Amino acid sequence: MSKQIDIDDLNIFYGDFRAVEGVSMHIEPKSVTAFIGPSGCGKSTVLRTLNRMHEVIPGASVQGKVFMDGEDIYAAGVDPVNVRREVGMVFQRANPFPTMSIKENVLAGVRLNNKRLSRSEADDLAEKSLRGANLWNEVKDRLDKPGNGLSGGQQQRLCIARAIAVEPSVLLMDEPCSALDPISTLAIEDLIHELKQDFTVVIVTHNMQQAARVSDRTAFFNIAGTGKPGNLIEFNDTDVIFSNPEKDETQNYISGRFG
Ligand SMILES: Nc1ncnc2c1ncn2[C@@H]1O[C@H](COP(=O)(O)OP(=O)(O)OP(=O)(O)O)[C@@H](O)[C@H]1O
Ligand SMILES: [Mg+2]
Repeated sequence: MSKQIDIDDLNIFYGDFRAVEGVSMHIEPKSVTAFIGPSGCGKSTVLRTLNRMHEVIPGASVQGKVFMDGEDIYAAGVDPVNVRREVGMVFQRANPFPTMSIKENVLAGVRLNNKRLSRSEADDLAEKSLRGANLWNEVKDRLDKPGNGLSGGQQQRLCIARAIAVEPSVLLMDEPCSALDPISTLAIEDLIHELKQDFTVVIVTHNMQQAARVSDRTAFFNIAGTGKPGNLIEFNDTDVIFSNPEKDETQNYISGRFG
């Protein structure tokens, strides 16, 4: 199920503004890749091109190619809706549907895809997804209670359960722990470790310890100055990036000497 991703000379625009320039990278299936770099360098922008969410922004466009297991997701005739089903996304702020029950939150994506489920199929899928998101034990006795009655960390795991219920191949996470306390953060990090057995995971994080803890490979992006495009500076094994990076720019950033 898990897919490899190949990004080939991606340039990403908001109107005339080139926000990201010339990004190429190969991401292995069943791996965790962290995107790090200063604010505004284009981490979220690159992430959103991987499931064709960038183009929903008015005026936004993409040049270059993105392949999932060799298939160009930007090829003519590819339905972006299918791409988004294959490539799930979890956002910075947990966004459960507030009036929906916990169970219906988990099933929301599946129902949106017009998939009909029998009562027992729905129960099984909800349980499997909640177990996959390490949330089952905490919510199994209140599946019919509203999703917004959960703690922030639980809500974030609920959103992960919702994303994995549609059985994607790739899971994109944009700073999924930035609104969480340290305990909930560790719970999500443990979960990411488990998720990579089934999914290709790409995570944006500002927390370098987190990148070092959860990822196999790390991509460092940087920006030369305001109004300039973001670039991929170095993409390497996570232990290399954090112990012995090839570029001075990477070293400066990870050691906090960023200017
Ligand atoms: N919807 C948008 N319309 C116009 N410009 C945008 C839009 N979203 C982002 N940008 C611009 O694109 C550039 C990259 O932004 P992006 O959000 O990808 O950065 P980031 O690395 O994720 O930053 P942060 O760490 O702050 O989240 C920035 O200059 C930003 O202002
Ligand atoms: Mg961002």
